[in-house]
Amino acid sequence: MRFDILTLFPKMFSSPFEESILGKAIEKGLIQIRTINIRDFALDKHQVVDDTPYGGGQGMVMKVEPIARAIEWVKSQSPSAWTVYLTPQGKPFNQEIAKALTFREHLILLCGRYEGVDERVKEFFVDEEISIGDYVLTGGELAAMVLIDAVSRLLTGVLGSDRSAEEDSFFNSLLEYPQYTRPSNFMGREVPEVLLSGNHRAISLWRKKEALRRTAVKRPDLLAKANLSDEDKRFLEEILPGGRNSKVGDGV
Ligand code: 6GU
Repeated sequence: MRFDILTLFPKMFSSPFEESILGKAIEKGLIQIRTINIRDFALDKHQVVDDTPYGGGQGMVMKVEPIARAIEWVKSQSPSAWTVYLTPQGKPFNQEIAKALTFREHLILLCGRYEGVDERVKEFFVDEEISIGDYVLTGGELAAMVLIDAVSRLLTGVLGSDRSAEEDSFFNSLLEYPQYTRPSNFMGREVPEVLLSGNHRAISLWRKKEALRRTAVKRPDLLAKANLSDEDKRFLEEILPGGRNSKVGDGV
């Protein structure tokens, strides 16, 4: 899968993709990430990319022509590229949107700065607007990195083969169960005995219950959306006596 990032700050992207899993995915040719400096597509000799807003007001607006030329240049190589504008006004990004984007061969990620882009950029060139949450960043660059990370890890081969199997499982819509590694005793706190038992059925059951418990306590909104089996619902009754609104102890 190919990602073309349109930005005024291409250097921001130099290290995040060199490390770890995404670095390996690039080495393996599973993803290609390219940054394109919008300034290179400015029309005038001073390479102006922003201007004051019509009607007055604070700040600067990113001009339409440099962005238009940059997107058209990418599309001349790859007409089916899908253009995403990262903006706080976009759809809230989530796992479902990340999954849907994996079906695109080629994404153009447009990063806004200042007061955003001229409205006509959206009208003519943007297929989808995405926000990564209800807070304001100084630009779309960090949001583009978040999106690339979340989408890439869903592509075949990016995580190890043992990891990908878990993707569609029950656990996908819940918070993670607690994890432990050596030592089995730290400052008097023992790892739950079942995890040392070697009983895989018992371990699976424990993990499922703990994932349900955590989700119920920390993110009841996720639980409401999860596809729970009758067995899961019974676990929840068992785990949270008195229902979801009851007080639950520490350490969840
Ligand atoms: Cl995509 N851009 C900016 N500037 N701020 C944001 C955002 C995007 N998502 C959340 N806050």
